Amino acid sequence: MTSLQFRFWQIGDDTIVAPWLEQMGWMKPVRYAAKFNDVGLQEESIVIAEVDGVPVGHSMVALRTVRHGESLLRVANIGQVIVHSDNRMSGVGSALINRSMELSRRLDASLIWLVAHKEKGPAFDMYERRGFRVLERRLSATVDVGSLPINQKLQVRIADNGNSSDIARLRKRLATKMTGVPAQHYDVSDGGNWMSVLRDSGIVAAAFVENTQGLPTLKKLLFDDSEDPNPSAAISAVVREANSEASEFRVHGNPASLLVRNTPGFPWKVVPGEHMCTLVSLRGVFEQLKTYLTERAMELGFKSSRLALQAGNEVIGIQLTNNTVTLSDPLQRDSRIEFKNGVFPRLLLGIKDWEKELSDGSVVFYAGEMLVNDAFNWLFQFQYMDATQISGW
Ligand SMILES: CC(C)(COP(=O)(O)OP(=O)(O)OC[C@H]1O[C@@H](n2cnc3c(N)ncnc32)[C@H](O)[C@@H]1OP(=O)(O)O)[C@@H](O)C(=O)NCCC(=O)NCCS
Repeated sequence: MTSLQFRFWQIGDDTIVAPWLEQMGWMKPVRYAAKFNDVGLQEESIVIAEVDGVPVGHSMVALRTVRHGESLLRVANIGQVIVHSDNRMSGVGSALINRSMELSRRLDASLIWLVAHKEKGPAFDMYERRGFRVLERRLSATVDVGSLPINQKLQVRIADNGNSSDIARLRKRLATKMTGVPAQHYDVSDGGNWMSVLRDSGIVAAAFVENTQGLPTLKKLLFDDSEDPNPSAAISAVVREANSEASEFRVHGNPASLLVRNTPGFPWKVVPGEHMCTLVSLRGVFEQLKTYLTERAMELGFKSSRLALQAGNEVIGIQLTNNTVTLSDPLQRDSRIEFKNGVFPRLLLGIKDWEKELSDGSVVFYAGEMLVNDAFNWLFQFQYMDATQISGW
């Protein structure tokens, strides 16, 4: 009889797990070895499944915070879920994901985010059965190197343990400005493949480049659009440095990202791989957003307001009195907003537009004391939050 057990990561696991992840093409061992540079990750965030004392499965949860005004929303990123091919279809993967979801809940995450491929294996369906819904698709563009502008003033430097602080500085700047994700969650830029793009020795962009299917591929680009609104020159500098032989290269992007919006000449196409998200707790989200809601109410000149919200089986009331937001039970007279089809995380991460969602029935507004525009202006003025930035992995 075999025994299946679960435990946290321990020294020695890397030699077994890193080759699995490398074989999937997910990451190189050197990157996995640097995982605890990410302060969103601890030994207890990694679950190892063992059969008769031998590791057969792995999953991990990285905790992120997303800033909305002065509020910090906690988002968990589940990733690197893998079961050794000899041990599949016997419940190991299912137990790993359930444990990671449970851990996310214990860490007070309000949302859980991950990437899955609908076309590949049972994972996508397994996540859908657990309430995950597609947040956004992914895009890729294949571009001629020669078509890109050359900017002689840009220099490219390969990041290593000595100078990845350039990138940490850029992350911090972007975090403050755009994503609100504290930079220390992100100091994972060493471990290979990262490059910094500098002008006058100040960093303007950072890129993660890897060869995929024979083409140099820019998988991530962090760039400061106030320094350089058109990232094409930075991309060009990186591609030339990464592989001077290639005449074409590939760029990965997300539909609403600044990168895609600022490169309209690129031939962006949808590619497999979906960002998926599930709501852990509606109450949790609004507990974490109380300060933001208070700030917004003051901006909008609200004195006292009440609203009821519903997602799945959860219904909560939000009350504003004396410049303080509290959560309460809903009242009969409250205006109520119901979120369907997994749309709530998309609104929260700035991916969807509530007016469109109202018209297609994914969001339903039941009139009460509050007006529809006031309600949505109060709750949903979120900037687009690049989930790739959330992940860091
Ligand atoms: C995805 C993966 C982790 C699943 O591991 P596993 O141990 O085989 O999974 P389980 O036996 O626990 O099955 C998980 C669920 O999928 C279903 N399932 C498993 N294999 C299936 C198959 N071949 N076809 C249909 N359903 C399947 C199970 O019924 C189970 O359903 P549940 O949601 O009701 O629990 C494993 O296939 C794997 O490592 N794949 C390669 C890496 C990968 O794709 N990871 C996911 C990245 S997002």
